[in-house]
Order: sequence, then C-alpha cells, then structure tokens
Amino acid sequence: MGAMERLPIGIFDSGVGGLTVLKSMRKLLPGEDFIYFGDTARVPYGTKSERTIIRYSLENARFLKGIGIKALVVACNTSSAYAIDILKEELEVPVIGVIKPGASAAVRSTKSGSIGVIGTNATIKSRAYTKEILALNPFARVVGRACPLLVPIIEEGLLNDEVTRIVIRRYLDELVKEVDTVVLGCTHYPLIKDTLKEIYTDINFVDSADETAKAVREAIGSKREREGKVRILVSDRTERFERIARMILEDEIEVEEVAVDKE
Ligand code: DGL
Repeated sequence: MGAMERLPIGIFDSGVGGLTVLKSMRKLLPGEDFIYFGDTARVPYGTKSERTIIRYSLENARFLKGIGIKALVVACNTSSAYAIDILKEELEVPVIGVIKPGASAAVRSTKSGSIGVIGTNATIKSRAYTKEILALNPFARVVGRACPLLVPIIEEGLLNDEVTRIVIRRYLDELVKEVDTVVLGCTHYPLIKDTLKEIYTDINFVDSADETAKAVREAIGSKREREGKVRILVSDRTERFERIARMILEDEIEVEEVAVDKE
C-alpha cells in the first residue's frame, strides 16, 4: 500500500451535524481512518453570506490538507453549495460534496419528476441542488424550502417530539402536495428521517449522508480489512458537542480542540 493510501479521509462540517455523514462512511468503509473537523466556534454556516461560507470552507480544507488526507468530504450542505468548485481547485486529492450524491439519488427515486429540497437558508438560496438535479434531468421540477428551525430543534435532541412535528408540518405540509421525493439537504435532517417518514408515509426521503458515503467508496475504492480509526477535532470544545456526537455516532468519542483560522 502506498503512503497516500494510508492517510485518513478528511471530513469537515460547520459543527456536529456532519457526523451523520461520518457515521454512514464508517459503515461502508470500516477499514478506513477518518479525521473529522467540526467548526463549532463559527457554526452555523446556514445563515452566513456566500463570502464567509467560502472563506470558512477554504480554511477548514487547508487545515485538513495540512494534516495529510487522501480525500476530502465536505459533509456540510451549506459549504458544498457554495464552495465545492473552489475546494476542488485548491486540493490535489478527491473532493466529494453532499449535493451531487443527494441530487442523483433524488433523480433516481422520483416517479413524478417533482422533487422537494429542504435545507438551511443559504443552501436553498444557492439553488445548488436545483442546478444539480436539472443537470441530470432537465425535465425535473424542483421545489426548495428553507427550514431554519430544524437544526436547533434537532441539536436539542427533540427528534420525535410534538414541537418537532409541528415545525415539520409548518415547513412541509404544502411542499409534499407537489412532490413525491424530498432531499434531506442538511447534515442534521437524517436524524429526523423516521419522524418525517411517520408523518408523510407516501414521500420518499433521500438521505444525502448515505449517498455521499457511496460516492466516497466509489472515489477511493477502498478494500482495507482492518478496523479504521476516527479522530474528531473541533474549533470549540463543548459538553454540548460531545453529547450530540454521542447521540449521532452511538459511540464513545474523544474530542480535541484546534485552531484553524490562523495563517
Ligand atoms: N451543516 C449545515 C448544513 O448541512 C447545517 C448547520 C449550519 O447551518 O451550519 O447545511
């Protein structure tokens, strides 16, 4: 095995939510080592401007590249929506975002050709999912809906609570009348997939975490037969991060604090 192959796969998110993508990747690529960076000091990205989202994404990518990675997974939908092309230019290793895999799964899943996309304000405003979906199927109809209250609700651990169901209905009741497939275009939403499926039994919810893990496997073609290691880094270490991380990964974790925004 070459020195490059032995390096970990780097993955970053604005905070804790990208661990849903890490979890899917660990399942599909159990032999790989992963290094995760959650930018908890600067989260959320979903309410920030394009300029700031790109700057943060570049800093995170350069930081991981400096440690040594064989591929970069941009787990954050908001970063993927604005910075994926810039990150691909910047890094010499494969860069995989969450938008393309989610869009292609949605195109495969829809029968009516009408697809809903839910995400942060910035992700929906970027129309990144719409563009990817239309590139794959120019006849598709895409309806986007920003759901800004869902991230804080999920971070409070209210995955199947009355409050969560009220907020979901407020955002999705109209949308689901128009579509047969909804893309979960935010790191946090896979955690409420069961609740969504319970409320809207006829809708197919596409989980971009699982789809991205498949895209990573295709990109690096791993066959490593060993137990991979996981390192979790954050820009602000809090008890809250560790609690949510344990909930997502269903595992004990160790978290290290680092600084990325220093030249
Ligand atoms: N990680 C972000 C995303 O997937 C959600 C949280 C945030 O707004 O930073 O879009």
